[in-house]
Amino acid sequence: MNQQAYDSVNAADTAISFSNIEKSFALPGGKKLTALGDVSFDVREGEFISIIGPSGCGKSTLLRLIADLDTPTNGTVLVENRAPNELVSEHRLGVAFQEHALLPWLTIVDNVALPGKLSGTSVDPKKVQELIELVGLTGFEKAYPRQLSGGMKQRASIARSLVLDPDVLLLDEPFAALDAVMRRKMNIELQRIWSERQVTTMLITHGVDEALFLSDRIVVLSARPAGVTRIVDVPFERPRDPSIMRTELFHDLHDELTEMLHSPGADGED
Ligand SMILES: Nc1ncnc2c1ncn2[C@@H]1O[C@H](COP(=O)(O)OP(=O)(O)OP(=O)(O)O)[C@@H](O)[C@H]1O
Ligand SMILES: [Mg+2]
Repeated sequence: MNQQAYDSVNAADTAISFSNIEKSFALPGGKKLTALGDVSFDVREGEFISIIGPSGCGKSTLLRLIADLDTPTNGTVLVENRAPNELVSEHRLGVAFQEHALLPWLTIVDNVALPGKLSGTSVDPKKVQELIELVGLTGFEKAYPRQLSGGMKQRASIARSLVLDPDVLLLDEPFAALDAVMRRKMNIELQRIWSERQVTTMLITHGVDEALFLSDRIVVLSARPAGVTRIVDVPFERPRDPSIMRTELFHDLHDELTEMLHSPGADGED
């Protein structure tokens, strides 16, 4: 294949592209904080990609740019080859941020259906039921968030993020508040959900093991101003069993990635 043909195949295959993204914030006193220095990478259609990097390096900022909650100072973000605001206005984006709590006065079924209400899109109740089943919450449709465990609430918010059939799913540390056992369960759950739908997914996490277990590729960001330190291909076959976490290859990759996170330039806040 010549280079031109290769490039066009690649472009068709690209779900999200970051080209030379710089993001600075104005601070009080006229100072400037550069969060993202020069970030470029692509996410392929249907890919599960994780972003890891030192605390405060700009991971959430990167997601906010895709979700059109902020704009880059320099560079271009494209989602499905279009400006992020176009996808957002068409509700093609599913978002589960850690701080996106469920509404306490709505039942689980109403919380999951909420994006339909908010966007004026009619969502088939059968579809809501299917999603509740998909995340393993059958029987809890009429429960209120306070009656659910932390993990169950996270699963409900993942169901909610999928209700409008998004092209792209953005997850910002969705399991950060969970204990190790629950987190492991949620990782298995998320792998199952992703393999059923293969929606392009971008996960931000501090968990190297979580990133290795779930991702096709892992993008390692450096400390602020963040750039891409490396992009690691994750070689494990799918579907993945948790037993891969006990293999030598998993441990080696885990060590390598942890090393990168703590290499000179990382800010040590982690
Ligand atoms: N609206 C804003 N105004 C000023 N500074 C901001 C703003 N949003 C983010 N920042 C700064 O940009 C940097 C990157 O923030 P961001 O939240 O993207 O980091 P992060 O990698 O997600 O961190 P963590 O791992 O702790 O969640 C931080 O230093 C933060 O203080
Ligand atoms: Mg963050």
